[in-house]
Amino acid sequence: MPTLKVTDLHVSVSDEETKATKEILKGVNLTMNTGETHAIMGPNGTGKSTLSETIMGNPKYLVTQGDITLDGVSLLGKPVDERARAGLFLAMQYPAEIKGITNLEFMRAAVNATRPAEDPIPIRTFLKDLDRNLEVLNMSDDMTERYLNEGFSGGEKKRNEILQLMTIKPTFAILDEIDSGLDIDALQVVAKGVNQMASPDFGVLMITHYQRLLNYIHPDQVHVMMGGKIVKTGDATLANELESTGYAGLRDELGLEVNLVDEDVPAGNGGK
Ligand SMILES: Nc1ncnc2c1ncn2[C@@H]1O[C@H](COP(=O)(O)OP(=O)(O)OP(=O)(O)O)[C@@H](O)[C@H]1O
Ligand SMILES: [Mg+2]
Repeated sequence: MPTLKVTDLHVSVSDEETKATKEILKGVNLTMNTGETHAIMGPNGTGKSTLSETIMGNPKYLVTQGDITLDGVSLLGKPVDERARAGLFLAMQYPAEIKGITNLEFMRAAVNATRPAEDPIPIRTFLKDLDRNLEVLNMSDDMTERYLNEGFSGGEKKRNEILQLMTIKPTFAILDEIDSGLDIDALQVVAKGVNQMASPDFGVLMITHYQRLLNYIHPDQVHVMMGGKIVKTGDATLANELESTGYAGLRDELGLEVNLVDEDVPAGNGGK
């Protein structure tokens, strides 16, 4: 069973203006197997997107300690495209607009990147799959002819990330706030797309601020990240608890101090 494992991960970023280095992740532990659905919740600025970007290999994020492995093989030092070929996919919180490459060309290239060069996906097979996915997501096919994300509305970008997910079919997907900016119907459509991916060969990590998404995509494990660490792991009921107590309640429960975006907090039961 494929496993994505994050061990004692410490990550720093350097501020583009001041060049000062700041530690964001302070010892994250997380183990995900295929067939599992995980969710991460946590206050703004705690490092959730930093974790996603670091797993995917964004060079802005410097790993100073710990490891990220896929099936026991370290991903550190491997560029983004190699990680994508190995089966990782990231739906970014703020998907980038890329002029000059159409959505369709991008997805076809991404699918072919995972196949041997001498065996590209037959165009008819690709288009048939793409059409099916467009239908599930209630998207019009002219979206695929447009430049990637260019001029897409916030919700269209999010829906398009799920179109890519369904078409590229990675082994592990990280969905960073896939629910942000979606109207009520779009949320259900996006959830339907993610749920269709469910299989013993696919694992998903969803980052969200709201329990509502988890009504549609049921998580096996919910992790709470605070101060750059996973401080608590539980089942879906943890998200409901959080919704009623807020992070303040959890801070009290765990004996954490208030105001702790940058503070060092003890690792909770999220470590494996
Ligand atoms: N490239 C960067 N340069 C400077 N600071 C950064 C950079 N990336 C992240 N940070 C800082 O790291 C901290 C964590 O940011 P991150 O985006 O990971 O938080 P988050 O948990 O995803 O928050 P949100 O819920 O608001 O999306 C923030 O204080 C942020 O300003
Ligand atoms: Mg974020």
